[in-house]
Amino acid sequence: MMSEAAKQNLDKLWQRGKDFLGCEYAILGGAMSWISERNLVSALSNAGGFGVIAGGSMGPDLLSEEIAATKALTDKPFGVNLITMHPQLDELIDVCKEHAVSHVVLAGGLPSAASIKQAKDFGAKVICFSPALVLAKRLIRNGADALVIEGAEAGGHIGPVVTSVLAQEILPVIKDVPIFVAGGIGRGEAMLSYLEMGAAGVQMGTRFVCAEECIAHENFKKAFIRAGAKDAMTTVQIDPNFPVIPVRALNNKGTEEFMKTQRAVIEKFNNGDVEKLDGQLEIEHFWAGALKKAAIDGDVEFGSVMAGQSVGMVKKEQPISEILEELVDQACAVLETR
Ligand SMILES: Cc1cc2nc3c(=O)[nH]c(=O)nc-3n(C[C@H](O)[C@H](O)[C@H](O)COP(=O)(O)O)c2cc1C
Repeated sequence: MMSEAAKQNLDKLWQRGKDFLGCEYAILGGAMSWISERNLVSALSNAGGFGVIAGGSMGPDLLSEEIAATKALTDKPFGVNLITMHPQLDELIDVCKEHAVSHVVLAGGLPSAASIKQAKDFGAKVICFSPALVLAKRLIRNGADALVIEGAEAGGHIGPVVTSVLAQEILPVIKDVPIFVAGGIGRGEAMLSYLEMGAAGVQMGTRFVCAEECIAHENFKKAFIRAGAKDAMTTVQIDPNFPVIPVRALNNKGTEEFMKTQRAVIEKFNNGDVEKLDGQLEIEHFWAGALKKAAIDGDVEFGSVMAGQSVGMVKKEQPISEILEELVDQACAVLETR
């Protein structure tokens, strides 16, 4: 058991994040497509963290249903993550309005000022991802109420810069809005270090996949428990003519097939057997539906087992409350020694 003094110190460090989110621990459960649904989201919020529904793969009706179902499981605040390039983004924001969602996260590319305004107009707090300092400033000018800075250690779609560098570039400079640090955080000591650098809180995804409350397929969870940091690799692009979106996931047979597909497309292109655009589409479509195949259907050989490098710190299936308590205890243990 940690001393009250350590807990109070931690509370001081993340007070801004707690106030912004309206929860006990300023720890966001980063939205994970297919996985961050009513069960994981409500469990996170009920345990004192902040759950976020992954709305990226949903249409308006499904999102509406999911928000209502989550509300039935928790009376604590939670957020909704929307992907900016979704063709029905406006309608999805309207669904959030109908349900008076308190926090909207706009992910997957820079949101327009109009989308930020649309969410703010009904009273939601808007959280945006910022991959660089200049963009952070622009997002704040456009109305973002908080930022997530996510480094390349994270699972899923990633940018090129690691968390430790983003944190040094952005935390000392941006003071106008709360900033949540994401990517590669697996333990409370790391969480504390970012809070001490000025973060308002953190966002984690990988660490929550093996929560008991998480609906991910047991094969997906087992793959996480088996894996070490070095197994969570980014997709490799072979030829600049054929761009590959960087995604961090566990290496598997799907990864090998992806390399073969790229080589085959490049060869066909070089022989004049395929147009560049058709080749690019073949590569782009390779992973379509692949996260669901792994996370829900359990095909961890050929699906996309998106995971961050912190996967090596995922050792067993645990209730969400236990994971959050561990993180807080690890941070407090450091504060105790001061
Ligand atoms: C399986 C998986 C799926 C993810 N899906 C999404 C998503 O749909 N939208 C999004 O904004 N971020 C997504 N992320 C990123 C997380 O929200 C979070 O920012 C990230 O996991 C934090 O880094 P960590 O994995 O090192 O904890 C995903 C991450 C994982 C591991």
